[in-house]
Amino acid sequence: MQVMTQSPVETSVWHRLLSRQLTRRSALGTVAGAAAAVSLPVAFSDAQATANNGAPVTPDTQKLQPRAFPPFTPIEPTAADALTLPRGYRYQVLAPWGETFTPDGRTLGFNHDFVGYFPIDMLQGGKSSTEALLTINHEYANPMFVGGDTKERTAKQIQAEMQDVGVSVVRVRKEGREWKVVMDPRNRRIDAFTPIELTGPVRGSAVVKGATMVKGSVGNCSGGQTPWGTLLTCEENVDGYQKAWAGSGYEAMHQGWVTEIDPFDPAWTPKKRTGMGRFRHENAAVTLARDGRVVAYMGDDMQDSCIYKFISRDRYNPADRNASRDLLADGDLYVANFGNGSWVLLDYARNKKLQEAKAGDKPLFTSQAEVLADARAAALAVGGTPVDRPEDIEIHPRTGDLYAALTNNSRHGNFFGQIIRWTEKDRDPAATTFLWEVFAYGGPQSGFASPDNLVFDPYGNLWMVTDNSDLGTNPIKAYHGNNAMFFFPTEGPNTGKAYRFAVGPVDAELTGPVFSPDGKTLFVAVQHPGEDSESLDKLTSTFAAKEGTRIPRPTLVAIEGFPGWRQA
Ligand code: FEO
Ligand code: CA
Ligand code: CA
Repeated sequence: MQVMTQSPVETSVWHRLLSRQLTRRSALGTVAGAAAAVSLPVAFSDAQATANNGAPVTPDTQKLQPRAFPPFTPIEPTAADALTLPRGYRYQVLAPWGETFTPDGRTLGFNHDFVGYFPIDMLQGGKSSTEALLTINHEYANPMFVGGDTKERTAKQIQAEMQDVGVSVVRVRKEGREWKVVMDPRNRRIDAFTPIELTGPVRGSAVVKGATMVKGSVGNCSGGQTPWGTLLTCEENVDGYQKAWAGSGYEAMHQGWVTEIDPFDPAWTPKKRTGMGRFRHENAAVTLARDGRVVAYMGDDMQDSCIYKFISRDRYNPADRNASRDLLADGDLYVANFGNGSWVLLDYARNKKLQEAKAGDKPLFTSQAEVLADARAAALAVGGTPVDRPEDIEIHPRTGDLYAALTNNSRHGNFFGQIIRWTEKDRDPAATTFLWEVFAYGGPQSGFASPDNLVFDPYGNLWMVTDNSDLGTNPIKAYHGNNAMFFFPTEGPNTGKAYRFAVGPVDAELTGPVFSPDGKTLFVAVQHPGEDSESLDKLTSTFAAKEGTRIPRPTLVAIEGFPGWRQA
């Protein structure tokens, strides 16, 4: 999701949309474990577990080469209200908003974003490509479509929206050529009401008025998967709700964190990992340092904001899942300085710059909890480099290189964005220095604009989806058509060249791409089709509408038909 300015009244596009639509609807009168033993160093075969948003992959990536050319005939831009794919590829609508999927009758939330693929047999060491628990982030609820049965924002309307955000855990299975949602006791919703525990330095601190438990996870944008089979869901645009959901008990300081959820264990209380900082969390790309500590790379999706990494205090022990589920509670947060290629520690006790930072003549921070609660200010105070809206970050399955989407920054004329990549010193994710370069530039010459989510396939090719919604009808994006998905070779003569694979329907973003472990199914979400509709009577899209209706629905789709892959 796009965010354009830091102004408090425009902290989220969602918020602007919300205000506008409520006004229109009113006008129209419409209804609306420390040092555990691990084998060292971590080889690429271990590193491959970090590909694919952290979801497992099955091919042995050491033997497979990335492709110099795409496994499809690239398609042209289009403004059609359809999901357009290359010849030979097909999709099915799998988990649309509003469908019942839990034994107790809960329905899928709105505006799907990150998708996590957890093979159903993962905890037994399996990598099923035909059955899984999927996690689906629901980034925000559009009141034109969700809840509305009054002209004003009633408690009932707010309740409907609070129930339609968060995360869904959904069991799916492939039967013949079709994927199906399967009823399962682990199917559940985490929404804006779910009890969640604070962990790390902010837990119980003055910053949260002593709170140890909070309510809900919202603004769930992208995310990541851990090697021990949990979801990290990232809370991005959370500020507008204080006003929009007034009276609901919503507390902004309880949001804006990384929340860990165990899809396999509904009894395990989700945890907010405050040590990973509070900002507009886009994602968390997880890997292991050479010494076995856990490293997570994260972007703060705002203009002139930074890229971070968190390194756990303790090491990962694959044999102890219970201990693993605590690993992200303690560790160090760093911010990237791209000027000298270094990672700068954000620790109040150990970094004097944080102790000396001032706002006027007052100290900016007096504790680590305060540093974490405003990690953006802390990052800028210690020389973190403000970059152009860092969105998704992914880890190359063969090289370990980091790739980050810098979406755009209209403040200084970067309208098209870039994808950058960097290599940690000695290829160790715990390194404190790195080298970086631009991998691909957006613009008419390359064909894409505003890179957002990234995912690697099992072969080390990069796939990217765009979010150029904030360019509006600006003629500079006339070449682009609707938001789209692109393929990039990462090695060889076509490195960084963009090939258009898919184009989404009108006013939609494609989000949350993830492959099944064998690479044969690509799951991707179609988020906010028809978002710029004036009213329910003037819809710009009818994508995935229920039979007999015209209301567009955000949905997960499953894409198949990767013939080239079977030859590899
Ligand atoms: Fe929710 Fe930064 O995209
Ligand atoms: Ca995004
Ligand atoms: Ca991703």
